[in-house]
Amino acid sequence: MDNVKISMRGVHKRFGKKVVLDGVDLDVESGRSLVVIGGSGTGKSVLIKCILGILEPDAGSIRIDGVEVVGSRSGAAGAKRAECGMLFQGGALFDSLKIWENVAFRLIYAERLSRQKAREIAMHTLKRVGLGEDVGDLLPAELSGGMQKRVSLARAIASDPQIIFFDEPTTGLDPIMADVINDLIRSTTADEGVTAVTITHDMQSVRAIADTVAMLYAGRIHWQGPVAEIDASGDAYVEQFVEGNADGPIRIERAAE
Ligand SMILES: Nc1ncnc2c1ncn2[C@@H]1O[C@H](COP(=O)(O)OP(=O)(O)OP(=O)(O)O)[C@@H](O)[C@H]1O
Ligand SMILES: [Mg+2]
Repeated sequence: MDNVKISMRGVHKRFGKKVVLDGVDLDVESGRSLVVIGGSGTGKSVLIKCILGILEPDAGSIRIDGVEVVGSRSGAAGAKRAECGMLFQGGALFDSLKIWENVAFRLIYAERLSRQKAREIAMHTLKRVGLGEDVGDLLPAELSGGMQKRVSLARAIASDPQIIFFDEPTTGLDPIMADVINDLIRSTTADEGVTAVTITHDMQSVRAIADTVAMLYAGRIHWQGPVAEIDASGDAYVEQFVEGNADGPIRIERAAE
């Protein structure tokens, strides 16, 4: 397929004895929105971090536009990773930087725009996520958790990346703001041809954002299909997740320590 943006094959990642990714095969189509679902601790964040190069897989291949990025320090691999924007699960804002400087960080330090130009773009992007200009000069600690989440989203999209990763973009937001964020993610991909990979537990978000859904279970992509098929997947694991049942094939690991 030549419309594949990101292609993962046989990706393995373990921490000590704990195997997290155990042969992940996954294709993300260009300009489409893929949502990854799966239980807590199954390795969804690790999967995204492997694509971004924050974590190095133990084995396997990850190609972005056909360029191998695993174990590669080439300029081409670096350039592909530089096309990626990321909203981290915890927000991960810089405490000592003003909100607008957080949003403009990459514009200033990677793209070397003037502070004035970067500030203009940051303020505009804050508006896109529903935050007023007055927020721009505050520090992260002065904002509520939900507002910080929106700032993280603004930072992820400010430099118009070709590929965006959203790790739990709506967690901790009220339902109305979650809907605003879902719309924004949806329109970013639909209108601008951006490829999006989103991790979420929120089924409403899945339905609002996804073209395709992939379920991570036991270190692999257990099921993948169009979002329209998640209610009739015929897969007991997907059904249990979608319906949020405590009973089913997915066993919650209870820590034995
Ligand atoms: N840097 C690390 N060092 C050691 N173990 C790690 C590291 N990062 C993740 N893990 C472990 O890998 C497993 C998967 O973590 P990950 O954060 O990917 O889960 P997740 O699917 O994103 O869960 P959640 O839905 O709760 O965010 C967990 O057992 C976690 O403790
Ligand atoms: Mg996670």
